[in-house]
Amino acid sequence: MTNKCQTSGCTKDATLQCPTCLKLGVPGSYFCSQPCFKSSWKDHKAIHALAEGILKPKLDDGSYNPWPQYRFTGELRPFPKTPKRFVPTSIEKPDYADHPDGRAASEEAMRGNTSIKVLNDDEIEAMRVAGRLARECLDEGAKAVDVGVTTDELDRLVHEAAIERDCYPSPLNYYNFPKSCCTSVNEVICHGIPDTRALKDGDICNIDVTVYHHGFHGDLNETFFVGNVSEKHKKLVKVTHESLSKAIELVRPGVKYREIGNVIQKHVTPHGFSVVRSYCGHGIHRLFHTAPNVPHYAKNSAVGVMKAGHCFTIEPMISEGAAKNEQWPDDWTAVTSDGLYSAQFEQTLLVTNNGCEILTRRRDKDGQPWFMDNM
Ligand code: MF3
Ligand code: CO
Ligand code: CO
Repeated sequence: MTNKCQTSGCTKDATLQCPTCLKLGVPGSYFCSQPCFKSSWKDHKAIHALAEGILKPKLDDGSYNPWPQYRFTGELRPFPKTPKRFVPTSIEKPDYADHPDGRAASEEAMRGNTSIKVLNDDEIEAMRVAGRLARECLDEGAKAVDVGVTTDELDRLVHEAAIERDCYPSPLNYYNFPKSCCTSVNEVICHGIPDTRALKDGDICNIDVTVYHHGFHGDLNETFFVGNVSEKHKKLVKVTHESLSKAIELVRPGVKYREIGNVIQKHVTPHGFSVVRSYCGHGIHRLFHTAPNVPHYAKNSAVGVMKAGHCFTIEPMISEGAAKNEQWPDDWTAVTSDGLYSAQFEQTLLVTNNGCEILTRRRDKDGQPWFMDNM
């Protein structure tokens, strides 16, 4: 039997299957081509939510697994999520906030454009404010990290900290991301969705906060220890933090963006760790993600040279084992393919005349990383 393309109006034979449907175990989702799949996406993706809803009831052992067909790479599992949080209308929102697909038209208009915006003095001042506010919101979430606390509770604290500071939590509805920050636990590399799972003794948990204030985004993340973390996982977190510090030391006018990855990989490989290649740092200002693209691995071909007035992030994701990643069927959560742990740190930087300003730097404790608080 040949399968027919599911796109309405298309009668062609089809062999391509929707990868999310395959993971979810939904039969019959065939398309003749990528363009047909793309054109059907808006309607088709409703099937994913429906399938999750149908499969949601508790399994025989009482556990929750919305994707019985999916082979998890590690021990972490998804937990039920709370409804989308409310943002008062008084808060200025980015263009994607109310878009049904969460599409950022302003970013898409710049796709393929590798020219890097040089910010003027007013824009630089606005980025300083956005960076400081993002830092404050991360710190509010960080204070609450503990055994028994859910990542949804961390999301609530970050969301409320943002609202209190007249900020929109940038992740909320960005390409339909359902929560206000990302929480990435253990083998989750990035883009973990906060849910009702309680943090466990020995977990590592990254909180990634971005806020949008008066038209500008500030973006940072840190990985935290939950209770007693093993020495090997502490080392992973510390080496990841060091790799970001070394990359930041390099930043000044005239340096090529492609150099950053060389410094990071050189620092982490002697420890036996690997650099994630699928996710990169990015330009950031009025747009959440824009030029330059900033890979964290060596010998990359990133375009561009640093100039005073550029703003961008460096956010290395470093894995204990293999660099390879895959995605959960929620289409967000990026996990290591071998289920081993991954850590990340991120700062938003402004290139200055003689180096850089870390716009999202820690202001208390003399800027030392949090894991040195008790050292
Ligand atoms: N804050 C992330 C970054 O560092 C992006 C998160 S996008 C989201 O670039 F949609 F997942 F929130
Ligand atoms: Co971030
Ligand atoms: Co970022």
